Amino acid sequence: MTKLTKKITRTKLMYRLMLSFFAIMVLLMIILSISFIDVTNRSMYRDTWRQLRQDSDSLIQDSIRYDPVEHDFKGFATPELETNARLLAHQDVHFAIYDTSQQQVFTSNGFTPTITAANWVKLKKGQTVYIKLTTPRVSKKVSRTSLPRMTVILRPYRVKKKLVAVVAIATFVSSLEENMHEIKLNLLVALFFAGVLTIIASYIFSRSVTIRINRLRNLTYQVTKGNYNVRLRIMGNDEIGDLARSFNQMTASLQNSQAEIHRQEERRRQFMANAAHEMRTPLTTINGILEGLQYDVIPEEDKKHSIELMQNETKRLIRLVNDNLNYEKIRTNQISMDRKLFDAAAVLHNLKEQLTKKASAKGDQIDLAVADGLLVYADYDHFVQIMFNIIQNAIQFTKNGRIHVRGKQVARGTEFVIQDDGIGMTPDQLDNIWERYYKADKSRMNTKYGESGLGLAIVHQLVNLHNGKITVKSKIGVGSTFTVFFPNSDEVLPKDHDGDEN
Ligand SMILES: Nc1ncnc2c1ncn2[C@@H]1O[C@H](COP(=O)(O)OP(=O)(O)OP(=O)(O)O)[C@@H](O)[C@H]1O
Ligand SMILES: [Mg+2]
Repeated sequence: MTKLTKKITRTKLMYRLMLSFFAIMVLLMIILSISFIDVTNRSMYRDTWRQLRQDSDSLIQDSIRYDPVEHDFKGFATPELETNARLLAHQDVHFAIYDTSQQQVFTSNGFTPTITAANWVKLKKGQTVYIKLTTPRVSKKVSRTSLPRMTVILRPYRVKKKLVAVVAIATFVSSLEENMHEIKLNLLVALFFAGVLTIIASYIFSRSVTIRINRLRNLTYQVTKGNYNVRLRIMGNDEIGDLARSFNQMTASLQNSQAEIHRQEERRRQFMANAAHEMRTPLTTINGILEGLQYDVIPEEDKKHSIELMQNETKRLIRLVNDNLNYEKIRTNQISMDRKLFDAAAVLHNLKEQLTKKASAKGDQIDLAVADGLLVYADYDHFVQIMFNIIQNAIQFTKNGRIHVRGKQVARGTEFVIQDDGIGMTPDQLDNIWERYYKADKSRMNTKYGESGLGLAIVHQLVNLHNGKITVKSKIGVGSTFTVFFPNSDEVLPKDHDGDEN
């Protein structure tokens, strides 16, 4: 594409906007002009006709003659008619008078209009007839053009309810037409200037729109190139403003996801490094013992201990591998769920028994406060796994402390609270604990239990699978409290149960 064609396609929208704006304005102006011309035209004729009616009435009043005895119509006085004819001729007004037998009895300046039979019918009924344009015969000396165009009114006059005469009175329309012509000319000039102004206004308006769109397009191009750190300056509260806001939200969330991907990747990399490191130690130990056994260099009395050591190390390796597999299974929805109501109190008592040894090794005490027969609607194995993980963490991160485990029935489900007075976490650590491979403190890597940083990521996924909710409150140096909610049925949690997980 050449530079020019590129520019043309780029500005296409602007021209389209300009054109539509211009078309609307021109159409509006044409409609207004037409109706203005029409109204003016009508009112000009109405005024002319009113004047003609008055002229006709006054000339009849001047010249009509009555029989003094009968008080009946007697005819017209010619001298008065002629005076009127002369006076009116100065104003370009001409008239003719007809009697009831449709004979012309007087004409001023040879003005002889023809009255059609249909008009005679109306006149006899007493109606005044208005004829907008006609070309009646007028003597050469008063006609301004070879075909004089006049507007005429035919006015009937009655005496004692009897039609006695009809006056046809007319004036040339040329002055009216001149006025009209002038008005049209003025309108045309106004139309021209309005057109120019419209073009300027539509250019400014369209340009402001296309500038905003172009800005958006340029930034979109940057996003396609992978630069999510772009934001639009938001201008206006219109649709383009909304689009800009959505665009900014989009880039912000893209940036977040990108950061999230990087974070995950970094953790995965770290975990791989950790895992390799963690695996090397037990594998080296196992290999050493196996070599010792192969060359029979381990004293008989140490053999049992060596085998126990190997067993412990392999268990650790298995746990590491299993945790990873578990998480992957849950994540990819390959996990089976068999939800039913069962006795959670019994499970918790069992767990307490299992974990008491670990707890006392750290000087911890587990306090269980659960009503007998407390029911929970969950998958049995997953419930055990969830509670085991949380309580085990509490033991792991608490020294010489107390771990409270409480359970109770709440609206729509069952809630469990696991509270410890251990080392606690900072708000920053809290933000990340559900992440895979996350360990708040890298120096806690070689603790006795778990070290993959997968425990809570698995717990979180499992609780989600139950449409449940897990939250945690923690304060560094004070302790942590985990709250887990299991709904009573398969329904999805209502909105008010969603919330900040910290
Ligand atoms: N009760 C707690 N008190 C203080 N910190 C905790 C507690 N529970 C979890 N954490 C922090 O959250 C991190 C993540 O816990 P998570 O259970 O996922 O991993 P982990 O216990 O380190 O390893 P594992 O996968 O073996 O459970 C822990 O490393 C710890 O820093
Ligand atoms: Mg753990």
